[in-house]
Amino acid sequence: MAPRVIRTVAALRRTVSSWRRAGERTALVPTMGALHAGHLALVRTARRRARRVIVSIFVNPAQFAPHEDLASYPRTFDADLEALAGITVDLVWAPPVEVMYPPAFATRIVPEGPAAVGLEDKFRPHFFAGVATVVTKLLTQCAPDIALFGEKDYQQLRVVTRLAQDLDLPVKIVGVPTVREPDGLALSSRNGYLSASERVAAPTLHRVLADCAGKIARGELMARVLDESGLAIERAGFVLDYLEARHAETLQPIASLDDGPIRVLVAARIGRTRLIDNIAV
Ligand code: PAJ
Repeated sequence: MAPRVIRTVAALRRTVSSWRRAGERTALVPTMGALHAGHLALVRTARRRARRVIVSIFVNPAQFAPHEDLASYPRTFDADLEALAGITVDLVWAPPVEVMYPPAFATRIVPEGPAAVGLEDKFRPHFFAGVATVVTKLLTQCAPDIALFGEKDYQQLRVVTRLAQDLDLPVKIVGVPTVREPDGLALSSRNGYLSASERVAAPTLHRVLADCAGKIARGELMARVLDESGLAIERAGFVLDYLEARHAETLQPIASLDDGPIRVLVAARIGRTRLIDNIAV
């Protein structure tokens, strides 16, 4: 059955408060639409863990810089509703931009810590303030017991986890493993931008990450492994933004295996498409 679509905060509040009064546990899956199997994995996990599932679909202008792809970002609302119809979603929260950001809107959440470590934040300086502001709004609007985020956007997951703790939001942030194509490419709404030849090169990112994580885990010299892996990514036709091994929670730089759980994160551009991925060591 097609999920119910709600577009005003008042209607959303009425529905979620009736669930709360009935003692029903609620999960929120925030998305920008253009839903693919990665998003649906989040929704299925939500379905297993809560009685009520809300999927938000909102292409958030605040997290796009003026030169980025806000205007061309894929918008496939009808197909998104169809994809969700197969999973049983209780409601789709799809506020118009002027409901999320009325004309007098004047508040921004500016995260630090994992949002200021020189990874995505270095290349997209306003991105995490845009994400943090909209996610804080989504969490207060929907008041879920749990909210699910993909490990695909690993820095975002760390930022949102920190944010919920710092603001004492009564929600558990749950990370969901990355869903990949059979050749390893992480599913992304932006994969559709790839040309045929770029699509052939794209799985290199995951292949190199996996190789890199294996070598680091076996104790090979981290700096050398990262240098060689970076070159392999560039040889496949990418321009590398970063390839780094970081502490898996704080995202601070680390020097060796002893410094804690490690995550290797990459961002690279091929043609006009920017891809990100990451892997646990
Ligand atoms: P969007 O890119 O639509 O992603 C929505 C959620 O799906 C995010 O938590 C993202 O990490 C997850 N996701 C995307 N691709 C995935 C994959 N291949 N496997 C598993 N999960 C995947 O991320 C955003 O939207 C926005 O920044 C948002 C959090 C909604 C705030 O506007």
